[in-house]
Amino acid sequence: MIRVGLIGAGFMGTMHSSVYSFLPNVKVAAVCDLDREKAEKIAQQQGAKVYTDPDALLADSSLKLDLVDICLPTFLHAEYACKAAASGLNVLCEKPFALDLQSVDKIISAVDEAKVKLMVGQCVRFWPEYQVLKQVATEGRFGEIQGAWFSRLSPLPTWGWENWLLDPARSGGAAFDMHIHDTDFILYLLGKPQAVFSTAIEDQYGLSHISTQYLYDKLMVTAEAGWNYPAKFPFQAKFRVVFQEAVLALEERGLIVYPGDGADPYSIEIKKDTSESSAAGGNISDLGGYYNEIKYYLDCLEKGESPKVVTAQSARESVAVTLAEIESAKSGKIVSIS
Ligand SMILES: NC(=O)c1ccc[n+]([C@@H]2O[C@H](COP(=O)([O-])OP(=O)(O)OC[C@H]3O[C@@H](n4cnc5c(N)ncnc54)[C@H](O)[C@@H]3O)[C@@H](O)[C@H]2O)c1
Repeated sequence: MIRVGLIGAGFMGTMHSSVYSFLPNVKVAAVCDLDREKAEKIAQQQGAKVYTDPDALLADSSLKLDLVDICLPTFLHAEYACKAAASGLNVLCEKPFALDLQSVDKIISAVDEAKVKLMVGQCVRFWPEYQVLKQVATEGRFGEIQGAWFSRLSPLPTWGWENWLLDPARSGGAAFDMHIHDTDFILYLLGKPQAVFSTAIEDQYGLSHISTQYLYDKLMVTAEAGWNYPAKFPFQAKFRVVFQEAVLALEERGLIVYPGDGADPYSIEIKKDTSESSAAGGNISDLGGYYNEIKYYLDCLEKGESPKVVTAQSARESVAVTLAEIESAKSGKIVSIS
């Protein structure tokens, strides 16, 4: 049984708690949030102890924790990931890793020194439709990729604690909060580009819409993300990938293959897991990639293996490329990726 201390009981802390409700090999032993009511709500469902100070949770050895799950606002990731590692605990840290490479490197050093296992929640690598895309590309089912387009759009995120998401110094704006999902997946799918060229819309919330061309030798790759859409615009994440023999597209109606020989388009069904949990208030499929992500990490811990789908270095690279994209948008220049 893996014993978890969950720090941050907001939107993502609640999501992670729902995932834990479905997993038999985990016990949420402690929940911490500055806002006691939020921590209590999750703690009641999980039978966990409540904290309002993360340091107190980390100092309580009677909890016998194996893992700290950090669902705090992004600017706090480095402080508490380092403290958790220094306490000898494995760390699951929500994405993005951190907002600058110094903070990322501090976390990596702390984790290496303590010899604990870290995973950053780059959840798109675990999202069913994106998993199919990765598999189809790896198998070469439709030949090689020639070009790809990704998009992620939403209204302004106004739910956060103290509106931290709207403060670019604390969230990194739409580039770090949304766009990094696609940047990370592009690196996973296609490797590192030679350079990036970005344009962006900047407003009082920082870069609230960014569009990037990832410059590869023989590939045409673009991704855009923005949270500057009207309040009634539904969140959407889409892609279109051009293979030699077909186009694979994630559309509103699902994952569709458009064969290159002119045959009728067909959909690829994602198998649903309708197991329910009253504590989670829904079924496993409602949890999308978050279930796959956390299950994978816990399985790695049980086997004593380091996660391979997301590594500290891959999460670091996603931060480095996102920083290059922001630099490009601000300077109007192509920025090389080292
Ligand atoms: N993987 C994804 O798809 C995804 C989606 C949304 C958010 N996130 C990430 O998850 C993280 C959390 O985002 P969120 O949307 O849950 O934010 P949120 O504002 O809903 O939750 C953050 C919680 O942290 C608490 N908190 C703030 N400072 C604290 C402190 N010092 N000690 C204890 N508690 C404190 C707040 O009270 C709040 O409940 C961010 O890094 C965000 O980027 C990831």
